Amino acid sequence: MCGIVGYIGYEQASPHLLRGLEKLEYRGYDSAGICVYDGKILDVFKSKGKLKILSEMIHGGADVKGTVGIGHTRWATHGEPSDINSHPHLSGSGKFAVVHNGIIENYIKLKEHLMRRGVKFFSETDTEVVAQLLEYYYNGNIIDTVIKVMSKVHGSYALGIICIDNPDQIIAVRKESPLIIGLGKNENYIASDIPAILAKTRDIYRLENDEIAILTRSDVRIINTDKEEIKKEIQHINWDISAAEKGGYEHFMFKEIMEQPKAFRDTINPRIRGDRVVLDDEINLTPEQLKNFSKICIVACGSAYHVGVVAKYIFEQTLRIPVEVDIASEFRYRNPIIDKKTLVIVISQSGETADTLAALRESKKCGSYIISIVNVVGSAIANESNDAIYTWAGPEIAVATTKAYSTQLAVVYLLALYFGDILGTISTMDYNKYLSELRLIPDKIEQILENKENIQYFASQQFDNKDIFFIGRNLDYALSLEGSLKLKEISYIHSEAYAAGELKHGTISLIEKGTLVVALATQEDLFDKMISNIVEVRTRGAVVLGLTCEESTEIEKCTDFTFYIPKTCDLMLPSLAVIPLQLFAYYVASLKGCDIDKPRNLAKSVTVE
Ligand code: G6P
Repeated sequence: MCGIVGYIGYEQASPHLLRGLEKLEYRGYDSAGICVYDGKILDVFKSKGKLKILSEMIHGGADVKGTVGIGHTRWATHGEPSDINSHPHLSGSGKFAVVHNGIIENYIKLKEHLMRRGVKFFSETDTEVVAQLLEYYYNGNIIDTVIKVMSKVHGSYALGIICIDNPDQIIAVRKESPLIIGLGKNENYIASDIPAILAKTRDIYRLENDEIAILTRSDVRIINTDKEEIKKEIQHINWDISAAEKGGYEHFMFKEIMEQPKAFRDTINPRIRGDRVVLDDEINLTPEQLKNFSKICIVACGSAYHVGVVAKYIFEQTLRIPVEVDIASEFRYRNPIIDKKTLVIVISQSGETADTLAALRESKKCGSYIISIVNVVGSAIANESNDAIYTWAGPEIAVATTKAYSTQLAVVYLLALYFGDILGTISTMDYNKYLSELRLIPDKIEQILENKENIQYFASQQFDNKDIFFIGRNLDYALSLEGSLKLKEISYIHSEAYAAGELKHGTISLIEKGTLVVALATQEDLFDKMISNIVEVRTRGAVVLGLTCEESTEIEKCTDFTFYIPKTCDLMLPSLAVIPLQLFAYYVASLKGCDIDKPRNLAKSVTVE
């Protein structure tokens, strides 16, 4: 979603702003802009389209004088992507400039109110209301005015504000949408996410809801809406800077696919001590509390939801507790039947997804215990859960998630073993088998990655399909959801995932000569059933890519092309089978010349409903 940056220091602001925005491009956007105070006016430059267009327009920032400014990449919600709707937005007289991430839900009412009083609007955005309200309520004191405006607007917002009367300040505000403050030497920054400031500083503050930061060149003060000072801990970011760089790879997505063995190891190794999974430092549940849960609800969005679908099979198998999996945006409005006997597991890479966060809060209100599986340390979802278990995937930049998916699944296995042990629902023999297989998963992912050219070859034969279907049963079905999503989000090929047994109830009518079907057949006890389904689609002309385990040669006999993954226990096969699916999506999108890391219309972190 939208990206915000701000710089205040002694250097020319605009190159800093452009560099910061470039690092936030992964969030998804369709226009970009900056505003710099040039000594006289708040000078705004903005343009529809890629950041490159804006950058060329102002010669990499060289044309824009001034040492304080704010910038923005906009992912359109209210008003089409256009120059006019791009941020920053100015107030009527040009006194205030504002960048915003989020949605002002009552903007129509506020806009009408202001228009009745003669305020003229220029854009169709909700954000412009903030700029105009600031000017309308301005009483000479910026902080009071910002607080007044905060009391008028409803919704979610991270705001960066500059005012011509106080050109040596940036004001930053957060409510529900993420915003961090970067602390430099004689310079300070605001940003939606860490990569934007990492080249300049590793010390940050994370703003919480309803906090207001006042940045000058030498100082950052944080206050609440009662103007009380807030003392905050500085968070030091210890990522290697290369973690947020492409490091010689053409795309972040490919780099992140290749990083999966390491990310998986980093996530499981610190939690395996001797021959046990130990989560005692992270999970505060007592065995009695655990034994009292009558069901588990897993709630997430996108690929994180797909991890939840896999997790349902794993938890039900190992814990013998019923599991429901929900898309967060559905869960929160369906009045779910949950209470203190429900364990809610929330999964989110960013820890900021608006619907997932809202679902978490809804569950808390009902008294449920919340465990979150999150990648971003200190994010809202992690903070608001009873327990957060971090995936140690490092920063994920590509919009299409790969290593976050894999490490979320790794945490699911850890939880299954840890809880299964406490509940006594896993036999010692199974526990030992699962744990030793879990340790081997990273090596086996490496083996698959070494064979990536086989997938690349297949992709080169199949990249111009119009529709592709993914079929599988049980865990393979859960995984086919992710395979299909990965493909459609980056290659723009229409794709559907279907439970193989359900195909006959409708979708098989779409199979015709040459339709590509990716058949996932990794679960040995379901081979025969899958073979029947493969034969059914092939009889109708489908071309079939089979995905199965080494030594399972029966699948090969009924497919056009077969990709083999190493064997492991059935429950852990999704961790291996997802790799060729990611590679297939990647190679297809690459052959089609798509913008792989920043697919159209998509955003990495969906901070609005
Ligand atoms: C977006 C991303 C997906 C991600 C989903 C949920 O759609 O493109 O990759 O799975 O949001 O995000 P979260 O940060 O909550 O995992």
